[in-house]
Amino acid sequence: MTNENGAIFTARGLVKHYGSVVAMNGADFDLYPGEVLAVVGDNGAGKSTLIKSLSGAVIPDSGAMYLEGERVRFHGPLDARRAGIETVYQDLALAPAQDIATNLFLGREQRRPGLLGGLFRTLDARKMRAEAQRVMDELGVGISSVQQRVETLSGGQRQGVAVARAAAFSTRLVIMDEPTAALGVAESAKVLELIGRIRERGLPVVLVSHNMPHVFEIADRVHVHRLGKRVAVASPREHTMNQVVGLLTGALVMSEDGEITEAQDAVTAGLAE
Ligand SMILES: Nc1ncnc2c1ncn2[C@@H]1O[C@H](COP(=O)(O)OP(=O)(O)OP(=O)(O)O)[C@@H](O)[C@H]1O
Ligand SMILES: [Mg+2]
Repeated sequence: MTNENGAIFTARGLVKHYGSVVAMNGADFDLYPGEVLAVVGDNGAGKSTLIKSLSGAVIPDSGAMYLEGERVRFHGPLDARRAGIETVYQDLALAPAQDIATNLFLGREQRRPGLLGGLFRTLDARKMRAEAQRVMDELGVGISSVQQRVETLSGGQRQGVAVARAAAFSTRLVIMDEPTAALGVAESAKVLELIGRIRERGLPVVLVSHNMPHVFEIADRVHVHRLGKRVAVASPREHTMNQVVGLLTGALVMSEDGEITEAQDAVTAGLAE
């Protein structure tokens, strides 16, 4: 089941004010089944505000969101999670002193069935470990044991755990805010590989990133955000990185029919300098 336009998740005209700051100014959004959609834009363009609206962490002042044909109103992140939307936040929200398996089930620990689970609320550690190992293996996160504490992992491995957690519990889509920002070349490649595996499993992924080579390597489409709204949707197959950078800085504009031209005000601004 999709929305009328074939998208799985759609937003129209999202607005969010923080006092006099307009963080979103009529933002539209469309995510199609099975795709990796990159969201790019300058610092302060409103990408995180958009992403947080989609994941329930921010409640827009106005606008509407539609998930698989139904209007949704999230009052908090839990509502979005219940709707099958999992988010990997930039700070990862992992518990460093706990092991991988515990982190994977953080906040939704499996209880033993029956009396023991209900009465003593004993965690079914063995079941959680087995399930954690299965998820890590399936996604190819290279870790030696799910009983290893997260604080002993490398940055890339930690990112892998956070991504695996989102992939394991997501039923509809996964959102990631800058998953490779703090990673080296090899670790970034691993995370991009993970994103590819999630797509192979049929889950669409929203990827916020400042890294154009990463965006062009993995994304099927590129949502360009500027001054609080979507100003263009580009394609890594049809457009160049320079064009996308031009669109996000405002030097270039894209018309309704996808034609890219120099912005008039950018030319004027250039003359004025
Ligand atoms: N909680 C808040 N209170 C006040 N202003 C906010 C808040 N959150 C965001 N803003 C403002 O809204 C605008 C958009 O911020 P947002 O974090 O969405 O941008 P961004 O595109 O994610 O930027 P970056 O690339 O730096 O992460 C900025 O001007 C920011 O200062
Ligand atoms: Mg941000």
